[in-house]
Amino acid sequence: IESEIKNKSVHKGKFKHYTAKEIYEQPVSIKNTILNRFIKNETVYFSELDVKAEKIFSQTEHIQIIACGTSYHAGLVSKYWFESLAMIACDVEVASEFCYKKILVRKNSLLLIISQSGETADNLNALKISKNLGYLGSLTICNSKSSSLVYESDFSLFTCAGIEIGVASTKAFTTQLTVLLMLVAKFIHLKSKNFKLEKKIINLLNILPNRIEEILKHKKSVYSLAKKIFDKKNIIFLGKGEQYPIAMEGALKIKEISYIHAEGYPIGELKHGPLALIDSNVPIIIIAPNNNLLEKIKLNIEEIHSRGGLIYILSDPFAKFNKNRNIIRLPYIEHLISPIFYAIPLQLLAYYTALIKGENIDQPRNLAKSVTVE
Ligand code: G6P
Repeated sequence: IESEIKNKSVHKGKFKHYTAKEIYEQPVSIKNTILNRFIKNETVYFSELDVKAEKIFSQTEHIQIIACGTSYHAGLVSKYWFESLAMIACDVEVASEFCYKKILVRKNSLLLIISQSGETADNLNALKISKNLGYLGSLTICNSKSSSLVYESDFSLFTCAGIEIGVASTKAFTTQLTVLLMLVAKFIHLKSKNFKLEKKIINLLNILPNRIEEILKHKKSVYSLAKKIFDKKNIIFLGKGEQYPIAMEGALKIKEISYIHAEGYPIGELKHGPLALIDSNVPIIIIAPNNNLLEKIKLNIEEIHSRGGLIYILSDPFAKFNKNRNIIRLPYIEHLISPIFYAIPLQLLAYYTALIKGENIDQPRNLAKSVTVE
């Protein structure tokens, strides 16, 4: 990456930082990731996979996901998709933990490793340890075609994010989610054969780049939120269902580039401890689109409000809340693709907060783009 920057083969263009450029590239990187991967907009097609892979997918009854950092959060979102859409049980673990415990391989389990770089040592270690344990096979989702992980695993699927230079992952994350949702559609095709659902996923992925264009236009409201939180010591991000891993990713982005301590929590778990942290100095950022979980989320919001919490709600044009709540109204998004969509304002929030604080956004202190040691 450093030599590419030196060679100036990757430019910042009109942007001050690579991170900003990469956030704004997401409609294009997602378009590139879905390009040529749908047959007649009805069936998902991965040119990387052969008949052998499809045979293994047909046998798969469990998916074991391994990843680190942001890629781990992509894995957590996909667990909701694999289980609720493709009806396949799925477990997700960080690679550094997976490697140092007893590994019980479920019946007909596929190992799925998610990595932007394909060089993270913990992932490579996990793959090595898993060989000959009885997995049906190993599949890697990666942004680098020539990486060690791609070389070592049985099959690979590529995200087409293009080179990502900012240490904090942005476009790699949303393209990982895009590939994961396509993979879910592939499993639906091969196993439950719910072709209507497969087609619905394809339609939604086709409109996703436009939806992301729309949300990127809302940078002003995200910037105003950044101005309110940049001087805080702690921030809590909350979500429910598929938005819970997005809350974790929002917290990770803030930690990585804004150097503010942040926690991502499932909103329903707040009462089991973190509620003790709430006062008017801790911003609570809640992802609350208008879906079947909203009524439950509203009850939790009232709990936080009655304890004097400083609440900011990211929502859509339709969700109704009690008066006097701080609501950031974002554009409408279809439920199925909403985790990908809500990742964007949280990336922008971390970016603007770091910008206001004057931090080294592209290369945060103590962090490396790719961690090649254990
Ligand atoms: C490093 C980076 C993170 C990244 C993680 C996993 O810690 O700083 O941004 O999410 O590695 O990287 P990978 O390349 O395996 O996705």
